[in-house]
Amino acid sequence: MAKIELTDVRKVYPGNVEAVKGVSLSIPDGSFVVLVGPSGCGKSTLLRMVAGLESISSGTVEIGERVVNELEPAERDIAMVFQNYALYPHMSVRGNLQYGLKNRKMASDEIARRVDAAAKMLEIGPLLDRKPGQLSGGQRQRVAMGRALVREPAAFLFDEPLSNLDAKLRVQMRAEIRRLQRRLGTTSLYVTHDQLEAMTLADKLVVLNSGRIEQVGSPMDVYEKPASLFVATFIGSPAMNLLPVGEGGVPGVSASDHLLSPGGRPQILGVRPEHMRLVAETDATQPGDAIFELTVNGVEVVGAESFVYGGLPQGGPEVAVRVAGYSHLEPGTQVRAATSHDAFHRFDRESGRRIVVA
Ligand SMILES: Nc1ncnc2c1ncn2[C@@H]1O[C@H](COP(=O)(O)OP(=O)(O)OP(=O)(O)O)[C@@H](O)[C@H]1O
Ligand SMILES: [Mg+2]
Repeated sequence: MAKIELTDVRKVYPGNVEAVKGVSLSIPDGSFVVLVGPSGCGKSTLLRMVAGLESISSGTVEIGERVVNELEPAERDIAMVFQNYALYPHMSVRGNLQYGLKNRKMASDEIARRVDAAAKMLEIGPLLDRKPGQLSGGQRQRVAMGRALVREPAAFLFDEPLSNLDAKLRVQMRAEIRRLQRRLGTTSLYVTHDQLEAMTLADKLVVLNSGRIEQVGSPMDVYEKPASLFVATFIGSPAMNLLPVGEGGVPGVSASDHLLSPGGRPQILGVRPEHMRLVAETDATQPGDAIFELTVNGVEVVGAESFVYGGLPQGGPEVAVRVAGYSHLEPGTQVRAATSHDAFHRFDRESGRRIVVA
């Protein structure tokens, strides 16, 4: 077991592509840390620098108590699981599991013990004599996990390991990886662009944007107190509604002092779809409620819930409202939506940073 410590890590690829722009991050021993961010933000680059598959332009990477910048991947005591599994097609499952251990000249009874333990844990015992080509995608993913497990490393590194699986299997494997990690207590750094996967797996969530950390925190912290507009819109689906606020409040939303920009600083208000509710003309609203007059553009029925999308009279960004169950609202219908004042998030329009209201 080991903690991982990144200090001001940078990566500049040839051609002056600055992929990682100074990342400092502590991954405590035994924790599950998830790096999430859009395509191209530098997730794989960062992970590969920890693994030793990519050189580090500046800064330090420590695994355990050692600075590993100059160590070969094999000397770093980590195991990596990739999206494309990277199994040897001509070897059996057993062969794939044993390969790395044999290379290290491990005693054969120890190899057998580790392979058996991993096969049992992952329930792939019956598949040991098959070739990767004779396995389903989910089974291949399990073998790839097994190959990481048998090494009994100080840390696991995962790069989008589930993105080749169908939606249902992905959810199942996600839960399995988490259970396995809890059981083994192995420090893990996991990369994904899928915010839902990130939210459900992480002890600690790291949101990356263009090579920089936007926010670090527990999934709930990040969801409830997004530090920037970027995080607010990246985490959560449908995304948080954003409304520009002028001197007169938000056009089309019943104004109140609360909605006005303090000191004239332009801000953007955010409210999550689940913190809004449709109300009838006659419904009593709470004193602090903001009321939105919306024209329905469309409805998305998810099953247990629906999302009603509507426009404000003066135009501007579309607003999503979550409703329980099925919604039968037709496009063009006029509706009112209410939201309580304390559900609003406030962001500085220029910097995009969260405004903390005392
Ligand atoms: N070998 C390379 N040479 C030059 N630029 C590279 C190289 N590898 C990656 N990049 C660039 O570095 C940036 C970060 O790439 P990286 O693969 O780390 O992104 P990512 O967050 O993993 O994206 P994805 O979610 O699509 O996998 C991108 O702009 C990419 O084009
Ligand atoms: Mg990547």
